[in-house]
Amino acid sequence: MTYDIAIIGAGAAGLTAAIFAAQEGARVIALDGAPKIGAKILISGGGRCNVTHDVVSPDDFFGTRKAIAKVLRTFPVEATIAWFREMGVELKREETGKLFPTTDRARTVVDAMLHACGAEIRTSARVESIARGFTITLKDGQTVAARKIILATGGRSVPKSGSDGAGYGLARSLGHTITETFPALVPLVVTPGFWTTELSGTSTNAELIVRGSTGKTLARQQGSTLFTHFGLSGPAVLDVSRELLAARRDDPAAHLVANLLPGETFESLERLLLDDAKKSARNILRGRLPERLLERLAPATPVANLPKEERRRIVRNLIELSLPIERDRGFDYAEVTAGGVPLTEIDVSTMASRVCPDLYLCGEILDVDGKIGGYNFQWAWASGRLAGRSAARDLQDHSVE
Ligand code: FDA
Repeated sequence: MTYDIAIIGAGAAGLTAAIFAAQEGARVIALDGAPKIGAKILISGGGRCNVTHDVVSPDDFFGTRKAIAKVLRTFPVEATIAWFREMGVELKREETGKLFPTTDRARTVVDAMLHACGAEIRTSARVESIARGFTITLKDGQTVAARKIILATGGRSVPKSGSDGAGYGLARSLGHTITETFPALVPLVVTPGFWTTELSGTSTNAELIVRGSTGKTLARQQGSTLFTHFGLSGPAVLDVSRELLAARRDDPAAHLVANLLPGETFESLERLLLDDAKKSARNILRGRLPERLLERLAPATPVANLPKEERRRIVRNLIELSLPIERDRGFDYAEVTAGGVPLTEIDVSTMASRVCPDLYLCGEILDVDGKIGGYNFQWAWASGRLAGRSAARDLQDHSVE
C-alpha cells in the first residue's frame, strides 16, 4: 500500500503535522524510532510541558527571522490555545507569560494529541533511508511507500529521547544541506574548583553578559541563575548559553560576566556602600542576595574600615563577576539544537522543500531555535501544522488536475 503522506518522526512537530494532514483526508502514517511516542514532550518543562508563551515574536528566535515570522503568523498563540482547547487541553498562564496545561502534566498534552490524531502511528520504526519516489526503509528492513514525506526528526538534543541527529543524514540524502549544529539552551560548566561550585542549589536573579575579547557587550540576559556543582544552570543561563557559544565560534575568547545586582552599576553600588559606611557590605545588601552568596562576596567588616582597593574589588565582584566557563554540558543536557536545514532551502509558505519535490520539513530539524519559555514548541506546532496541511492540500490539488 502506498500512503499519501509518511511523516518521519512523531515528536511535537511530526505529531502536529500528522493531526492536520489526516484532518484534510489524507492517508497518513507517522513513523517514529522510539518505542513510545512523546518522550521529549513528557520531559519538557520539568514534566509540565511549557506549551507556548503568551507573546511570541520572531525576536524570540535565532535563525532567519523574516522566514520564521511568516511561519509563526500562520498559527498565532490564540489559535494554538484554541486548538489545544479543542483537543481537551486547557492552558493556564503563569506570571512569566509561560503557558502550561492546567493539569501541570505533560502527559495531558501527549494523550490529547494521540487521541486527536487520525493517522496511523508506528513506534519502534526507525527510518534508515529514503529513496526518492518515495520508498522508506526501516531499521528492521521493512519498507513503506508514500507519495509525500514530512521530515520531522528533530535535532540532536537529549539523543536518548530518539532525536539523535540521524534526520540530518536523511535530509542530506534528499539534497539538503545542514548548517553547523551546536547545543543551545544548555547548562554551562565552570573551571573545576571555581568557588561557585560550592554554592550548589543557590539561585539568584542576575544579569548575564557575553563579552567579546575586546570587551564589547555581545548579548545580555536577565533572570534566574542557578549555581550547581558543575557550574551554572537556570533560565537566564540557558538563554545566554546560545549567545555565548555562538560568540565563541567567531571569537574563542568571548566570555561571561554576571551582574549579581541587576540595575546597579559599579558607581551606584559603591555610592550605596559609602553612604552607609558604618555598616558592613553584608548588612547593607542583606535581602538582595542569597545569604550564601553574600557570605562569599560581601565581608562583615564595616565598609569604612576597608581599604579603597578592597572595597572596589568587592563592588567589582558583585557587578562584574567573571565566570570562567570551560564548556557547555553538551547535547545530552541541551534543550534544543542550534543549526539544521537552512530556511532558505524551504518554501516557508508551505514548509515544502525547495530542493526535493514532495518533501516537507518542520520542527527542530530546521535551522531555528527559540529562547526558553515555550517558543520552541510554538515553532513545532506552527511549522508542523503548516507542513501537514500543505502536504495534504497539495495532494488534493494534484488529484483535481
Ligand atoms: P522532537 O525531538 O520532539 O521529535 C523528533 C522525533 O523524531 C522523535 O520522536 C524521534 O524519536 C524521532 N526520530 C528521530 N530520528 C528518527 C528516525 N531516523 N526514524 C524515525 N524516527 C526518528 N520547548 C518548549 O517550548 N517548552 C518546554 O517546556 C521545553 N522543555 C524542554 C525540556 C527538555 C529537557 C528538552 C530536551 C527540550 C525542551 N523543549 C521545550 C524543546 C522542545 O522539546 C523541542 O524543541 C521540540 O520537542 C522539537 O520538536 P520536534 O518534533 O521538531 O522534535
